[in-house]
Amino acid sequence: MENKVLKSLADEFSDIHLKSFNQQNLRFSSRFIFSLLINPQISYIYKKNKGFCIFSINKEDAEIITMAVVPKYQNHGIGFLILNELDEVLLKSNCKKVFLEVASNNLIALHLYKKVGFRNFGIRKNYYRILKDKKVDAILMKKVVNLQK
Ligand SMILES: CC(C)(COP(=O)(O)OP(=O)(O)OC[C@H]1O[C@@H](n2cnc3c(N)ncnc32)[C@H](O)[C@@H]1OP(=O)(O)O)[C@@H](O)C(=O)NCCC(=O)NCCS
Repeated sequence: MENKVLKSLADEFSDIHLKSFNQQNLRFSSRFIFSLLINPQISYIYKKNKGFCIFSINKEDAEIITMAVVPKYQNHGIGFLILNELDEVLLKSNCKKVFLEVASNNLIALHLYKKVGFRNFGIRKNYYRILKDKKVDAILMKKVVNLQK
């Protein structure tokens, strides 16, 4: 894809990120998202102007780098839809496992990831700084990619 197209996509993703993350330091800039999108190991799923997920594939392992849904569309199943579509992409790419990290206070994301089959396998203590003097743990989750739902 042309850089011009990727730049405009990065702007749209960054705008969604900005709207959906209430913690400023967890937001991804357009410049950073562009640097991800030009990497050949990176792919994305996009529901136009509503939500997206950026992920990487490295042989049999995949990782969700980020996902976000615009607040006014949250809790309408778009996150669930995106993760189901991700499953199909990963199956076609012969991926066996998918990993992610999520803040321990992000109850909605934790609920959604568990619902689609992710399980906790570790924790990084005080990993995310959410305020000047407040940090939260990162929960490490993984899921085996398969057809069974
Ligand atoms: C996490 C996120 C992507 C989910 O997208 P979404 O489109 O709202 O997800 P869905 O509507 O498919 O599912 C949301 C689920 O959370 C549940 N939920 C809502 N509020 C909740 C709460 N306070 N505690 C636990 N679960 C909650 C909903 O009931 C729904 O589950 P259900 O379908 O079993 O009823 C979205 O909330 C978001 O963009 N959050 C901010 C960015 C973020 O945290 N990204 C993830 C970083 S790892």
